[in-house]
Amino acid sequence: MVMATGIAMASACCTCPETAVYLDESKPLEDRVEDALSRMTLEEKVKILHAQSKFSSAGVPRLGIPELWCTDGPHGIRPEVKWDQWDQAGWTNDSCTAFPALTCLAATWSEEMSALYGKSIGEEARFREKDVLLGPGVNIYRTPLNGRNFEYMGEDPYLASKMVVPYIQEVQKNGVATCVKHYALNNQEAHRHSYNAVVDDRALYEIYLPAFKAAVQEGGSWSIMGAYNLFRGEHACHNDLLLNKILKQDWGFDGAVISDWGGTYDTVEAANKGLDLEFGTGTNGLDSKYGNSYDAYHLAIPYQEKLRKGELSEEVLNDKVRRVLRLNFRTAMNSRKPFGSMNSPEHNEAARRIAGEGIVVLKNEDNILPVDLEKTGKILVVGENAIKKMTVGGGSSSLKAKHECVPLDGIREAVGDKAEVVYQRGYLGDLLRSYNSVDTGIDLSDERSDEQLIADAVAEAADADVILFFGGLNKSKGQDCEGRDRSAMALPYAQDKVIEALAEVNPNIVVVIVSGNAVEMPWVDKVDGIMEAWFIGSQAGHAIADVLFGKVNPSGKLPFTFPVKLEDNAAHATGAYDAESHVAEYKEGIFVGYRWAEKQQIKPLFAFGHGLSYTTFEYGEAKCRKAGKGFKVSIDVTNTGDREGKEIVQMYIEDVESSLERPVKELKGFSKISLAPGETKTVTFVIEPDMLKFYDPAQSGWVLEPGDFVAHVGAASDDIRSSVKFAVK
Ligand code: BGC
Repeated sequence: MVMATGIAMASACCTCPETAVYLDESKPLEDRVEDALSRMTLEEKVKILHAQSKFSSAGVPRLGIPELWCTDGPHGIRPEVKWDQWDQAGWTNDSCTAFPALTCLAATWSEEMSALYGKSIGEEARFREKDVLLGPGVNIYRTPLNGRNFEYMGEDPYLASKMVVPYIQEVQKNGVATCVKHYALNNQEAHRHSYNAVVDDRALYEIYLPAFKAAVQEGGSWSIMGAYNLFRGEHACHNDLLLNKILKQDWGFDGAVISDWGGTYDTVEAANKGLDLEFGTGTNGLDSKYGNSYDAYHLAIPYQEKLRKGELSEEVLNDKVRRVLRLNFRTAMNSRKPFGSMNSPEHNEAARRIAGEGIVVLKNEDNILPVDLEKTGKILVVGENAIKKMTVGGGSSSLKAKHECVPLDGIREAVGDKAEVVYQRGYLGDLLRSYNSVDTGIDLSDERSDEQLIADAVAEAADADVILFFGGLNKSKGQDCEGRDRSAMALPYAQDKVIEALAEVNPNIVVVIVSGNAVEMPWVDKVDGIMEAWFIGSQAGHAIADVLFGKVNPSGKLPFTFPVKLEDNAAHATGAYDAESHVAEYKEGIFVGYRWAEKQQIKPLFAFGHGLSYTTFEYGEAKCRKAGKGFKVSIDVTNTGDREGKEIVQMYIEDVESSLERPVKELKGFSKISLAPGETKTVTFVIEPDMLKFYDPAQSGWVLEPGDFVAHVGAASDDIRSSVKFAVK
């Protein structure tokens, strides 16, 4: 009896780590979490709920629970910064592989590419001993002015939902958590810390939440990042509806909610409204009244004091601690995770493949593409974006890439001595060559006037067999960059003028747009070729050359609509977007992107889902049959050209009659298939009843109304090849 008590006491207060359940990886996760929790003091619990440096949070040293280390995200692993500052630490071994921006990944419409992306970036995160990768981003593309659209996956909730899942799963196989961001309604950068998103329930559930839900429920993301903005008057980082109700209660999320850096405002709010881990809160340096500025965080000593006084619930505290412990056990404390790798040939190859599948050929008149080097004597390359490194800049996603091949170098390498390549600058854009101490090493200064630059380019144009104009946007403030929105949709600098001037002399022009956003193209009819090349990272030059010269047959399609002008976009047409206002009223409701264009019958410049190939595809007749509780739609697709190629077959559903207005049609399936010349494949889409539902605010839920539906199958939202009707009884 005495002995038994002695043993029981020994195990209850045992601090020998090797006997502890929480350290035993063969034990169920929840048992380990409860065991660790039961051993922690109040101070230790609070200590793990906030940062201890710019990108790390403390563990529980007494229990051998390690720190957690985060990194941006989402296109490569951010160079190391100083402990307490944004400045670079100046390491020489933290250069990464820069992968294509997420707009490009979305443009691949390939779950295989998403998996390859996740695997590769996860391995790099692991090699750098990071536990949490701050990404991917899945905020919906609502306006072409949003400075951060390049970090997201386009305008369609179905596409973003499908594309985000493999990325997450593959990253996490490395014992590195994804932190899907920015949850939620972070669709602009203007007043990003203070705008209040006013969104109706239907738009919330149908448009803005599905990709986050898929990330949590299908991807199984171990963490999620709260957004800066407010939603219905509450900051998203402590928002009862978004975090406690929808994310944790309805979706069953068991991971940790991490604040965006500096997105936490109040101890009681943060404690009660769903935040688990606080990062980046502004402090007054290291001289706070607690000695260490991180102790002054909302979820630090101020929280502890309120807990001690009994003003806040310990049960709620324990829930947060459990979530952070889970995150820790899944990552930092996972002893079975692989070692990872950095800048491997495989990662560079992955970056090149993903870019090659994401580049979108928008226009190809007279088959100007691919450029046939057998018939080309002189290639004139014009434009700043042919020589600019784009992995540097843009905010928190800025990288220090080990290699970055700029387009001009990629072209020169591919052309070799088969043709003459002449370069002209054409216009001056942004001359900045470094960002956050990462120096591109490229001097962009040029003394020439705008007129002279144009004249010099035009002088080389007349006898060129083809002109490749490289323009678009860059990563400077006010363009594709965090912290501010664009002020207009037009191309910046003198680009339009240069293109017009070149076109007057020689129409054999391919305009290559490097951007993460739609741009206006007033010269669209004057050039033969247009390509959206995105920001594609380390292998940019190689991947672009692959497509330009036909080594790769393009197969990317647009993940968002290119309107002709800003007023054709719903947020602008309705006057809802106002960069000056601190209220963002989503007046367009569910009619975002192509949903708006189709409702208003506005012809876009380039439609959602559009993208050309160097071969041609013929579609058969769509057929629908009942299958279980739902339906199956099948269609034959044949490669009728003479090159192997990949086609993204898209299925949109139309609800013929509905009690609430619905979009003309909505994407509900896609499949990327590879076809040899002459080959036919049958593509089959499964339609589950859930996919036919809409969100009815009056019933606070999803509703399936019986009646007729139409499945439209085609090559783009504006290129439907066959439609088939079916009825839900
Ligand atoms: C950004 C996040 C980023 C964080 C850390 C914030 O300003 O909004 O996306 O992960 O900084 O760099």
